[in-house]
Amino acid sequence: MGPDHRHDLLPHEQGHIPNPAHFQLSFWIGRLYDILSENCPGSDPLIWLPVHGIVMERIPELEVMNGPEHVLAYAQADFAEPHDRFVSLFQEKFKGKKIDGYVVDLGCGPADVTIRFSLAYPDCIIHGVDGAENMLKHGRKDIADLGLESRITLHHGRLPHDNLPRASYEVIISNSLLHHLPDPMVLWDCIRSYGSPGAIVYVMDLFRPASRHVAKRLVEQYTGDEPAILQEDFLRSLCASFLLEEVRGQLEQADLGHLSTETVSDRHLIVYGRL
Ligand SMILES: C[S@@+](CC[C@H](N)C(=O)[O-])C[C@H]1O[C@@H](n2cnc3c(N)ncnc32)[C@H](O)[C@@H]1O
Repeated sequence: MGPDHRHDLLPHEQGHIPNPAHFQLSFWIGRLYDILSENCPGSDPLIWLPVHGIVMERIPELEVMNGPEHVLAYAQADFAEPHDRFVSLFQEKFKGKKIDGYVVDLGCGPADVTIRFSLAYPDCIIHGVDGAENMLKHGRKDIADLGLESRITLHHGRLPHDNLPRASYEVIISNSLLHHLPDPMVLWDCIRSYGSPGAIVYVMDLFRPASRHVAKRLVEQYTGDEPAILQEDFLRSLCASFLLEEVRGQLEQADLGHLSTETVSDRHLIVYGRL
């Protein structure tokens, strides 16, 4: 079978057309937010909307991040704070547990999280998997520079089309892949298929803000000094991510309802537990 280019298309080309009525509503609420906040600086006039159950609908973004410009901006960005937090929260949630054996990092990108995890858990062999070869190139270079080739290998593979390098893993981690997937069940099905019995599961992702206005505020707050391409990426990612309740629904559907979920910042959620 030839490569599937469907997921490289824009959302509307992929057939992911938001419900038109809901889309219109989100659009006009967004406009209203923008107009009111421009004219009433310092206030957030429509902050109460989520309380009434009106939140923006998900707008999927490009799935695989292989465009050279995007990859370079992403690979050069400083994610030290959120990525260290990814590892420290894992340490907190699995405190006192022996972490060894085979780990897979799904959607590893340029392997910054993979490397930080490997440094924290030197007894693990880690496979990073990503559908974007250009991302992996950056990761392979960093891994070689740090002399970690015997502990980390990166594999080009696109879920759910390609198999993972091993049939099962003791630990499955993933950061910021979920919101890239047109069908979020791809991640949960993969975890169920490839996790060994009792495997540790730890997923972190963004959650969708109530409105585009709130999303823009987060972009300004956290990426205000970054290049425009990263700011646009972050805005698209926030709009493409899921609400905590939606993630809970996905877990129930995948028979993984026993996993714990938690929001851990104003933009991140985690899913963790054992199979
Ligand atoms: C936002 S990046 C996160 C990268 C890395 N985990 C990190 O935290 O820096 C999302 C990554 O998921 C990859 N990706 C998206 N869909 C995928 C799929 N179906 N299979 C494998 N990788 C995928 C993208 O290519 C991209 O590198």
